[in-house]
Amino acid sequence: MNQSHWENVYQTKDIDQVSWYQEQDQKTLELIKSQNLQLSQNIIDVGSGASILIDQLLEAGYRNLYVLDLSKTALQKTKLRVSEKGLDLGNVTWLEDDVCTAHLPQQYFDLWHDRAVFHFMVSEPQQEQYIENMKGALKAGGLLIMSTFAEDGPTQCSGLPVQRYSIAQLKQRLGDDFRLVHYDHDLHITPWQTQQNFLNSVWVFKG
Ligand SMILES: C[S@@+](CC[C@H](N)C(=O)[O-])C[C@H]1O[C@@H](n2cnc3c(N)ncnc32)[C@H](O)[C@@H]1O
Repeated sequence: MNQSHWENVYQTKDIDQVSWYQEQDQKTLELIKSQNLQLSQNIIDVGSGASILIDQLLEAGYRNLYVLDLSKTALQKTKLRVSEKGLDLGNVTWLEDDVCTAHLPQQYFDLWHDRAVFHFMVSEPQQEQYIENMKGALKAGGLLIMSTFAEDGPTQCSGLPVQRYSIAQLKQRLGDDFRLVHYDHDLHITPWQTQQNFLNSVWVFKG
């Protein structure tokens, strides 16, 4: 599960010196807002790292947020930043855990968000474990917003191999329990100005 790899990344690099860094994640915020969730509904950002999305969700008024990552340091950096902004830490549950095996509340989440995490699951058993864990934690009718590297995206990230996806491949991987609502592509520009093509998608979990 590479816990020491990720912990080392966050201990040795500033948060704006990783390839996936985004100063703002306006696109995801708008996508989440467009799903018409109540502000009290349950949202989890898995493999959140030190991403800014949690700050933006708190600022937008969402108040039942879960943040999960393998790296304690990533979570600490996020907590510190959020509290320095005066945002309410009480609206967030912090989980230092593996997304594939974490004991999550069951049929609980209205939205599961994953940017650049599932694509690190490169073996079928890992992918199945992730999907089964997610299905247990999502409510029937709950949403999945997932961003992976697209089929012409990089083959590695953070020195680790990744699985790239076309929308057809991702649909097949997720299986019949997820209905596709929307997808698009966008180019992420890394801090050193290289381009990474992402596949963004929104799904409903049929339950
Ligand atoms: C490429 S970063 C993306 C971070 C964040 N989602 C973003 O978009 O900025 C991948 C993140 O997934 C976390 N991660 C990798 N494998 C994981 C696993 N099995 N369980 C939980 N977190 C994991 C890493 O610690 C890292 O923070």
